[in-house]
Amino acid sequence: MSAAMLETRDLCKNFGALEVSREVNFRLERGARHALIGPNGAGKTTFINLLTGALLPSRGNILLEGEDVTSLAQARRVKRGIARTFQINQLFRGLTVLENVCIAVAERMGVGGSMLRAAGRHADVIAEAMRLIEMVKLQEDAGRRVVELPYGRQRLVEIAIALGLNPRVLLLDEPAAGIPSAESHILLDAIATLPKEIAVLIIEHDMDLVFRFAERITVLVSGAIFAEGTPAEIADNAEVRSVYLGTALDG
Ligand SMILES: Nc1ncnc2c1ncn2[C@@H]1O[C@H](COP(=O)(O)OP(=O)(O)OP(=O)(O)O)[C@@H](O)[C@H]1O
Ligand SMILES: [Mg+2]
Repeated sequence: MSAAMLETRDLCKNFGALEVSREVNFRLERGARHALIGPNGAGKTTFINLLTGALLPSRGNILLEGEDVTSLAQARRVKRGIARTFQINQLFRGLTVLENVCIAVAERMGVGGSMLRAAGRHADVIAEAMRLIEMVKLQEDAGRRVVELPYGRQRLVEIAIALGLNPRVLLLDEPAAGIPSAESHILLDAIATLPKEIAVLIIEHDMDLVFRFAERITVLVSGAIFAEGTPAEIADNAEVRSVYLGTALDG
């Protein structure tokens, strides 16, 4: 088997006596559209924190394209292409979409600080910002202030900024949380159609979104992988239905 984009081997994490990751062997393939699901407290967010380096595992390994990154600090992993977005809205709401993305791009290009306003007019910065904005299909909103956008589109601005890191892996912890369902479908569709060079792993509780977005699903229960497969395999899995999906898929 060729190296996965991101892989974990026997990954374990304990908080005192609580085992939050238990021997997790997981593969995120190149170009993946993969969802991680499971009950509250299953250890999903912890798992993403282990992947990004926000937390160090108690045992086990994390490999990026076959290379062991287990002991790399978070910032070094970002440079290697592991990006995430955070729940906290870190945008300048009174500025436009283009201005927000320009600021992030300018900081990254090292033309930040007092040069920010000038940087916003710099042709390279604007071109790169527009490239990112187009990746999330927000070009028609580029000149609008963030505060005027529905939440789902604000989240896409955050994703555009994360894409500026040229990630190979994008990790999204409940990107649709707090977003009305009509909008959340647009958000997830935009994520699904990102360039295939980027492998995407999302944590999501809304099963409509999961089954629409994902090509592969992993079910985590009590820190361990309970089931994994295609959406059809997961939907047909009687144990998964009884443990997690319940009757959610019957309606
Ligand atoms: N820093 C910590 N110290 C101690 N326990 C923690 C810590 N972080 C998380 N936990 C515990 O680990 C378990 C897994 O938490 P985690 O946030 O990973 O679950 P989750 O699957 O993301 O849940 P949710 O669906 O509610 O977001 C929970 O029991 C939680 O209380
Ligand atoms: Mg969580």
